Amino acid sequence: MARRKKVYEGKAKILYEGPEPGTLVQYFKDDATAFNAQKKDIIDGKGVLNNRLSEFFMVGLGNIGVPTHFIKRLNMREQLIRACEIVPLEIIVRNVAAGTLSTRLGIEEGTPLPRPIIEFCYKDDKLGDPLVAEEHIIAFGWANQQDLDDIVALALRVNDFMSGCMMAVGIKLVDFKIEVGRIWDNDMHSLILADEISPDSCRLWDIETGKKLDKDVFRRDLGSLTDAYTEVARRLGVLPTNSGPVTRPTLIN
Ligand code: TYD
Repeated sequence: MARRKKVYEGKAKILYEGPEPGTLVQYFKDDATAFNAQKKDIIDGKGVLNNRLSEFFMVGLGNIGVPTHFIKRLNMREQLIRACEIVPLEIIVRNVAAGTLSTRLGIEEGTPLPRPIIEFCYKDDKLGDPLVAEEHIIAFGWANQQDLDDIVALALRVNDFMSGCMMAVGIKLVDFKIEVGRIWDNDMHSLILADEISPDSCRLWDIETGKKLDKDVFRRDLGSLTDAYTEVARRLGVLPTNSGPVTRPTLIN
């Protein structure tokens, strides 16, 4: 008999029905995918690290007044979250040129941008999450102008917070992706930060050496992804600095 009802399964996470209406349990898998799931692997311990790191960022953001879906961490791989209606956009914030910005516009990777640049991609795996303009978003009803204004303000607050956290531990926040969801109160809605914030959806470079500490380690076969994420977690104080390799007992709470 199933322990609980699965609501959705994505590439890196599973959502189950939560214990109370309006809640969900978000389970972090060890699966890593890149290039729209053309490259796949199981990375031992990745889900455990992302659960902890996403908790760390969501709690920190909550403490400075950014509304998030995070309620509490339940165990090594699961957290209790508020259910929301996901806006079908991947919201990308960039501080330094990398990835598709570099290839699309011919700007060398590592070039600092004159200001944070926000991009929107339409969330559709079949289409490969294409870059879209605000015009498309509003014309097709994925979000309205007020939502977009709120999303930009929220994304910039997340960028300031995350950049500061990372800078303090010698890491440059090159770019990252967030998702937001709607919470309804009768016919009014507000937006909250949803999904996850982890090295799976950020580019993180060591300030001194330029070493990559994010999913590009997997995308570009640069070494152990678990080692890179463990290093991020240790520097942020999410894992004790003297603990051994990421094993189940280390992260039991
Ligand atoms: P981007 O450079 O556009 O794409 P790619 O990672 O394929 O080169 O990505 C910018 C940042 O946003 C990067 O940190 C990865 C993250 N991102 C996701 O996590 N998921 C996504 O679906 C997209 C489009 C980006």
